[in-house]
Amino acid sequence: SSPDAYEDMSPVIAHRGASAHAPENTRAAIELAARQGAQWVEVDVTISADGIAVIHHDADLKRCSDGDGLVIQKRLAELKQLDVGRWFSDQFRGEQILTLSELLALASHLELGLNLEIKPTIGREPETVWAIHKALQQVHFEQPLLLSSFSIHALQSARRHMPHITRALNVEAIPADWQHRLEEADCAGLHFAKEFFDAAQVSAIRDAGYHMLVFTVNDADTAQRLLQAGVDGVFTDMPQQLQQTLKGARA
Ligand code: G3P
Ligand code: MG
Repeated sequence: SSPDAYEDMSPVIAHRGASAHAPENTRAAIELAARQGAQWVEVDVTISADGIAVIHHDADLKRCSDGDGLVIQKRLAELKQLDVGRWFSDQFRGEQILTLSELLALASHLELGLNLEIKPTIGREPETVWAIHKALQQVHFEQPLLLSSFSIHALQSARRHMPHITRALNVEAIPADWQHRLEEADCAGLHFAKEFFDAAQVSAIRDAGYHMLVFTVNDADTAQRLLQAGVDGVFTDMPQQLQQTLKGARA
């Protein structure tokens, strides 16, 4: 089986790419994250109507494209006609929705660790995971790879199809029954929202042998505090700023 992705984890993970300075989940945002020195990026994965894994955060297209309607109700050919950069700024006009296959090639080229956050439409979890599995089968992706999801169903499906890829459960708040939930989908890590940080819970989860990542942290002091408390890393929209400050704090 593949090594645990957390062994290669960096303390700073670019959230949807360098999404404070480029349109989230696009080629531009991922390239910028790499230029800013990020070693890992997180992106959101869902599927098109014809079952192709694509990179997009929201279920609908309104916020981050010049189209509307649901991603899962458009075929890839229709999705590819949309502009997913111009909503952010004119400078990014012409960005297209990335397929997972395109993203894998890009992350390989940039030598980035990759956290694929599975964002299935509820009820389409198996199809979403299957599409991810197919994309991964078609390439030889050698960078560290971590699958995560808020959906236990998706994680269980990932375990069935890709048992060797490290899995993490996403939550907003750390649940009281975290151990049970992590065991349900055989996860190596828990990712939670910074608002719900609790030092005692973090210690207990760490002592139980699990890893933790926290989203979304754009403030270096908060990142520092979380890392000192025992989390493995933080998701941030501004990797450069965070890395610079963390480096300074350690020196
Ligand atoms: O995967 C961590 C984080 O991205 C989860 O929340 O809404 O930003 O996808 P969201
Ligand atoms: Mg995400």
